[in-house]
Amino acid sequence: MDVRGVVSTKRDGGVLSREEIEFFLTRYVAGEVPDYQASALLMAIYIHGMQPDELGDWTRAMLQSGRVVKFEGLGRPTSDKHSTGGVGDKVSIPLAPAVAACGVAIPMISGRGLGHTGGTLDKLESIPGFSTQLDESAFQRAMETVGVALAGQTDDLVPADRKLYALRDVTGLVSSIPLIASSIMSKKLAEGTESLVLDIKYGSGAFIPDVAQGRELAKAMMDIAASMNVPVRVLQTAMDRPLGCAVGHTLEILESLECLRGEGPADLRELVCELGAQMLCMAGVESESEAAKARVAQTLDDGSAFAKFEDITRNQGGQPGTWFNAQGDPDLTTTETFLAPASGILSYRDVREVGLALCALGGGRVQLDDKIDFGVGFRFQREAGDTVSAGDPLCTIYHRAGRGLDEARARLTQAIEIVTEYKPQPLIIARM
Ligand code: URA
Repeated sequence: MDVRGVVSTKRDGGVLSREEIEFFLTRYVAGEVPDYQASALLMAIYIHGMQPDELGDWTRAMLQSGRVVKFEGLGRPTSDKHSTGGVGDKVSIPLAPAVAACGVAIPMISGRGLGHTGGTLDKLESIPGFSTQLDESAFQRAMETVGVALAGQTDDLVPADRKLYALRDVTGLVSSIPLIASSIMSKKLAEGTESLVLDIKYGSGAFIPDVAQGRELAKAMMDIAASMNVPVRVLQTAMDRPLGCAVGHTLEILESLECLRGEGPADLRELVCELGAQMLCMAGVESESEAAKARVAQTLDDGSAFAKFEDITRNQGGQPGTWFNAQGDPDLTTTETFLAPASGILSYRDVREVGLALCALGGGRVQLDDKIDFGVGFRFQREAGDTVSAGDPLCTIYHRAGRGLDEARARLTQAIEIVTEYKPQPLIIARM
């Protein structure tokens, strides 16, 4: 077997064997295969795709390129959620404590925001002292004591993905369904979860806006999970409008706390309850979706999810009650009201523009090492589908002395559209 042979098999549209995949990836991670040969193979995968078994073997080989976590003796089942992300998606923050309050442990490895989408890690780090850098033993301890670890990826988890993702990024090979599916699933399955719920977003604010392509991604991820005997359920949910009313780090933490108190926007609560119900059913804690949904809702209403979030915060270095500091305090920014430009029904032309407007204010990352202003953002007073009159307040802009304000206004103008007829798509468009 040689590297050129593996590349040419795929170049000609063939199916790689498990041995060929392991041979290639092991050598690539060890630095014995140069990036130009790996790029050639990735390009061939991009063009020809992968068969389900082949994709399972590829993902398993990626997963086994590093440490694979196993939780033994926890006395509780484990489950996790992955979302393809979007604008205002803060679901993980109330979801993890709500599900943990029902007796399921959550090993949640999350990412940072880049471009128009925010990241759970950045939002959590807007809480003073909250550390998402947990080493192996701190992660294990968090799982044993609090039952939740909310952390970033460590260097020893799926090193193959780190190398391959960086290469895909600079060679225009990110948007391939098998490469995305294997990248996400290898990381999720390495963290030791026994089941997984996937929130695949659709709409203009989603990573993959097209519903049919999102379904294809879901199918590829489900095939991978099946090949590894990991139960998985998928919800395809709306990102053709922002989720909830708040966009921006502290503002989203505050909205998550509202949800954890049984309050806050209906769409956020609905998604927490729906995703949480799937996790409880897969974990075997409940057998029926409606009962599971009611149980998650109960934790939001009776304070147990909120108390669990306080435990998580304390365990990860924060102090419950101190949810932001002066740098992140939205009340110490300057506010401006963004008004409806016309009368009609509020809809969204391009939700990505809301995320990019946040970046313009300094509340997002364009480059990986950009510093985020946690205090800036938007709070929407009206939602998609509402009838508005010209001049009605649509949202409050929290800005830092006018930084990026012109661009943010222009992007919000581009994001929304006032139309005469519009019915928002359902929050959950498909379940798989
Ligand atoms: N997120 C990932 O982790 N990997 C991809 O390939 C795309 C999005």
